[in-house]
Amino acid sequence: MEPLSSQAKLDWVIDALAMEVAEPASGPLSRRLYLGLRERIQAGRLAPGSRLPSSRRLARELCLGRNTVLAALEQLVAEGFLETRAGAGTFIADLPQLAGASSAPGAASEQALASAGEAPEVALSSRGTRLLGYSPGSNLRPGVFTPGLPALDRFPQALWQRLMRRHLHRAPTEWLGYQTQGGVPALREALCDYLRLSRSVRCRPEQILIVQGAQQGFELIARLLTDPGDRAWVEEPGYGGAKACFEAAGLELHAVPVDDEGLRVAADLPAPRLIQVTPSHQYPSGVTMTLGRRLALLEAAEKHGAWIVEDDYDSEFRYGQGPIAALQGLDNGGRVLYVGTFSKVLYPGLRLGYVVLPEALVDPCRRANARLHREGQYVVQSALAEFIAAGHFSRPVRRMRDCYRGRQARLRDALAPAVRVGLELSEGQAGMHLVAWLDDHVTEAALVARGLDHGIGLSPLSTYYLTPPGRPGLVLGYAGASEEEIDRAGGWLRREWLALRAKRVASSMTKVATEPGARA
Ligand SMILES: Cc1ncc(COP(=O)(O)O)c(C=O)c1O
Repeated sequence: MEPLSSQAKLDWVIDALAMEVAEPASGPLSRRLYLGLRERIQAGRLAPGSRLPSSRRLARELCLGRNTVLAALEQLVAEGFLETRAGAGTFIADLPQLAGASSAPGAASEQALASAGEAPEVALSSRGTRLLGYSPGSNLRPGVFTPGLPALDRFPQALWQRLMRRHLHRAPTEWLGYQTQGGVPALREALCDYLRLSRSVRCRPEQILIVQGAQQGFELIARLLTDPGDRAWVEEPGYGGAKACFEAAGLELHAVPVDDEGLRVAADLPAPRLIQVTPSHQYPSGVTMTLGRRLALLEAAEKHGAWIVEDDYDSEFRYGQGPIAALQGLDNGGRVLYVGTFSKVLYPGLRLGYVVLPEALVDPCRRANARLHREGQYVVQSALAEFIAAGHFSRPVRRMRDCYRGRQARLRDALAPAVRVGLELSEGQAGMHLVAWLDDHVTEAALVARGLDHGIGLSPLSTYYLTPPGRPGLVLGYAGASEEEIDRAGGWLRREWLALRAKRVASSMTKVATEPGARA
C-alpha cells in the first residue's frame, strides 16, 4: 500500500485542528490555531516543505474568519515555522533542527517505539493469557504444511471479481446501512438448498444465520447460550479456534477423548452446557464419527440439556466414500447448531460462514449477532448467492477435490520410504491435511525445530490436546501448497525423519550392547 502522502497528512491535521478550535476553550481563536499548528510542526507531524492550503480554504474548513487564520499564519511565518514563497503559497519551513523532530517529546517517543520494533509488555487478563495459548506467534507465516489453507491459486478470481463488480453496481442503498436480517435472503436460500441436498441438513432458509466465519459463529453461540463457569466438552485432540472462543466466554473446558469411532461419550462425564464436535471429519485426527456414537451424543445432550455445536468445516472434500450426512439431520430434539464455513471452499479472507439454528434459537441468535457483531458484507453475500446458484460453487468443489486428492497422493509418495519403515500416517479419506503419528515428543520437538531452521513450519499434534502431554505427531496440511512444494518439503521431512530414526536405532543398539550380560 502507498504511504500516506504529505498532502493527505495535512488534510488529517486540518481536520483535527477544526475539531480542536471548535471545542469550547478560553483564548482567542487565532492563538489556538497558532498553537495547534506550531505544536504539530514541532512534533514533525507535518513534512518540511509541504504546502499549506490557501488561507481562504483553511478558513472555510476550520469554520473561522479569514482574518483569524491570517493572524495565526503571519505569526508562524514571523517565528520561522512557516515560509511564504512569492506566487507559490505558504510552506512548512525546512528547518534542519525540525527534520528529525527529535526535540519534540511526542515524536521522540513515537520514534523510540518504532525503532525498538517491540511493543511494551502489558499485563493481560488471565483469560487473555489463556487465549494467546491458542494463537500462533506473529512470526509464523503460512507455509507448505499449514493446516486448513486451501489452494488459493485455484480460486476462480476473475469470475469472482466480475460477480463482485456486478453486485456492487446493483446494491440497493439500504445495504449501506445497518442490517438485521441474518444475511442476504438469496444467500440463505441458496445455502439451504445446498445443505439439504448435499449434507442432509434439515432446515428452512430462515434458520440460517450468516456470520463472519465459523469462528464468529462459535463466539456468538458461547456468549448467548452459556454463562462463565459453565462446562464445554471439547474433542481431545481438537480445534484450537473453537477452544479459544469458549475460553473467551469464560467456559470450563473438559477434554473428551476421540478414538477410531469419534468422540467417546462415557456415562460418568461431568454435565456440559455446550459440546463441540467435528463428526464428519474429526479435527485433526480425521476420524469419522460412527452412527452409534452420534446417537449416543444426541442422547447425552438431551439428558444434560446441552447444546451441540457441529463444526462441519471441510466435508466437501471426501475422497474415498460419498459425503457423510450431518449430525444435525439426526437431531429431533433441536439441540444441534450446525456451523459451516466458506473459508475452505472459497478462501479464508472472505470471512463468511453460517450457523443453522434450531427453531427456538433463530430470533435470539439473529438479534444477538446484530447487536454484538453487526451484520455486513451484503454485497459480497449477494455475489456469493449467485456464485452458488449458478453452479460455480459445485464445479470448483469438484475441481478442488481432485486437486487435493492429487496433492495428498503426492505427499504420501514423498513420505512412502519412511512409511515403509514405521512412520504412521492417518487414512486421509477426506479433508486437507494428514496426521503423521510419531513415537515420542523428542522426535516431534526435533522435527519442529529443524523445520524452523529450514523455513518449513510444522504443526505439532501435541499442541492440539488440552491436557498435556498429548500424543506426539505432526499435522501436515497439503491443500494450499503446489505439487512441487509438496515434493520438496515432503522429501525434506522424509529425510529428517529417517535420519532421526537411524540415530534412535543406533543408540538403542549401543544401549543393548553395553547392558550387563549383553555378551553372554
Ligand atoms: C476445525 C475447523 N473448524 C472451522 C474452521 C473455519 O474457520 P473460519 O470459518 O473461521 O475460517 C477451521 C479453519 O481452519 C477449522 O480447522
